[in-house]
Amino acid sequence: MLPAGNPSMGIIDIVPTPAPELTSTPEPTPALQTPPVATASLEPAVTDALAAATPDPNVGLPPQETPDPSKPMVALTFDDGPSKKTERILDVLEQYGAHATFFVVGIQLEKFPEIVKRASDLGCEIGNHTYNHKNLTKISPDEMREQINGVNRLVLEATGKEPALVRPPYGAGIKDETVKANVAYPLIMWTIDTLDWSTRDTQSTLEAIRKDVKDGSIVLMHDLYDPTAAAVETIVPELIEQGYQLVTVSEMFAAKGIALEPGKYYRKAFE
Ligand code: NI
Repeated sequence: MLPAGNPSMGIIDIVPTPAPELTSTPEPTPALQTPPVATASLEPAVTDALAAATPDPNVGLPPQETPDPSKPMVALTFDDGPSKKTERILDVLEQYGAHATFFVVGIQLEKFPEIVKRASDLGCEIGNHTYNHKNLTKISPDEMREQINGVNRLVLEATGKEPALVRPPYGAGIKDETVKANVAYPLIMWTIDTLDWSTRDTQSTLEAIRKDVKDGSIVLMHDLYDPTAAAVETIVPELIEQGYQLVTVSEMFAAKGIALEPGKYYRKAFE
């Protein structure tokens, strides 16, 4: 059940980050802050070395917003967060300019709205995984709409954008006419189930991805576990090295020219 009162209390009080302007250096939000380089206290030789280092032209720039349709792409997805582990995953995505999709649950979002904001600011997509991880086939149509709308409202308050996608908990209800009629969003399943929640094992998670990854894959993980975050630290640079673009679900389907329609379910973006 959603709380009867305002579930967003505390969230709406967050001071909005000013929109970055091209002509000035915006004050980074704490969550986006990179480790400060204390150049002032360094010896001249050290500062010279820092200045001489070839800057990475991509650092500080937003990730490529439009994937190249002619190159392979993968959508990493993370369910059941946000949690404190999400930040470790976002650090990796930020470092490599990669995008992912986070299917959040409302009860976690209420604890960590700033993490969801950071993910959104990094170009990641925030999807809806219901308010408290309900099996949609076991609740009434009214409850279904409450579960979905409650999270949409929370995500909108945290990020300024409403989710466009739903991942039903347990993948349940994708062929249920009542669910499809009442959850009026594209239902996003997955191509590769890493079973990270079950194994809690980094190598096993990595192997699941390596074994089956291909252009158009949707990979299911959970941003709740350190072994998953460790797997992300390895697989993100590895996939990029292999030529994959790491994109959100919506970016991938748009790039593939596949329309995402309400009440339909999707496991992959390839034939
Ligand atoms: Ni889940």
